[in-house]
Amino acid sequence: MTAENATKPHYLELLNDIASGERRAGIHLAAWAGKTQDLGLKSCLSLVAARETSHHQIFERRITELGHAWTENEAPEFEERLRVSGSDMPDVEKIRWGKAEQARRQGPAIRERYEAAMADESVDPLTRSLLRWFSDVEADSGALLRQAYEAIEKDA
Ligand SMILES: [Fe+2]
Repeated sequence: MTAENATKPHYLELLNDIASGERRAGIHLAAWAGKTQDLGLKSCLSLVAARETSHHQIFERRITELGHAWTENEAPEFEERLRVSGSDMPDVEKIRWGKAEQARRQGPAIRERYEAAMADESVDPLTRSLLRWFSDVEADSGALLRQAYEAIEKDA
């Protein structure tokens, strides 16, 4: 099957959005890791940034395997996110900014979309397996970040 004749799976947009979001998360978390003076937070941010970047690569590869090409989706909020993460703003303010930003976001969360795809038998088995693994890693990363944020907020 070539890229030209491959029919578009209905979940291609989801894979594309995951690949795009993971790439951006890897960039801004690495920028923050490069700025913080807190060694616990730095190691957590670096670990999660590496995971996000590798998720981007894995999902881009899966899209290619399905006969398509990854295209970056639009994320108008990313520029500001990266500016904040790479700034000299105190960590606790970056944490609060991130939480407020998350609360402002509209529409179904990406997590709801990939959880639906994991349960959807019309999604190919290898992609569903990949999504299950991805979901486990994302949950673990979320828990690690929450712990690191709590430690910072407690001392603030
Ligand atoms: Fe992620």
